[in-house]
Amino acid sequence: MSNEDDFEDVIENPDLPVLGADSPANQSDFYKIAFQFQKIMMLYESAIKQVETKLDILNKENTVNRRRNPIETVKSRIKSPDSIAKKLECKKKPITFDSMITNLNDIAGVRVICPYISDIYSVRDMLLKQPDITLIKENDYIQNPKKSGYRSLHLVIEIPVYLSKTEHNVRVEIQLRTIAMDFWASLEHQIHYKNEADVPDSIRRELFRVAETIAMTDREMEEIALELQTLD
Ligand code: GTP
Ligand code: MG
Repeated sequence: MSNEDDFEDVIENPDLPVLGADSPANQSDFYKIAFQFQKIMMLYESAIKQVETKLDILNKENTVNRRRNPIETVKSRIKSPDSIAKKLECKKKPITFDSMITNLNDIAGVRVICPYISDIYSVRDMLLKQPDITLIKENDYIQNPKKSGYRSLHLVIEIPVYLSKTEHNVRVEIQLRTIAMDFWASLEHQIHYKNEADVPDSIRRELFRVAETIAMTDREMEEIALELQTLD
């Protein structure tokens, strides 16, 4: 995925270790660590698949019932090892497997883009009433936008992943937003790739103003859609 689709990850070139100079002991550590990491990431990928399948089923149900689809697009991403380490460092947490599982909510990320604001809340309700989904945290940046002007509904959920012998509750961050909110966020996100000092206040103010305009447009589009529905 590209630019904003990495969600918030800014990936720089990490220094790669020199290959070929390891002792056998180091090599066996390498296999252990690599295997463990692969196993953990497989759980996060599986959790993403489960959420995507749930969203897909909800969309199909609407198609069968000849109702309008509340979901426009779904995008998913898994956090790179580099940004997992950076985020743990940033949060002053140990860089270990246990720590990443405990301290990071967004190793698995799913972004759901909806046509209208009310769709966001219906998709939220449809997901949260499913018995295998547990809500861990909810941030409603639509009711309470960030000071940048950012709007979206964020859910951190836990979903079970069943392996041959074990069951794991895996956390997934779900960001729900309208097409217009997504358009805004992808442009505004570029600010995060720049130095604080490089972004003039005028641009921040302009983006904030546009976020307000977009929010108003979202509400107006919804009102028109509702009026149209009453004509059916
Ligand atoms: P972090 O993931 O560390 O930020 O922790 P948090 O739990 O406080 O997350 P938060 O609810 O602030 O949102 C996390 C994600 O939402 C980010 O990784 C972005 O994808 C998105 N996000 C939050 N704020 C902004 C913003 O101002 N602009 C844009 N473009 N995206 C944002
Ligand atoms: Mg995040």
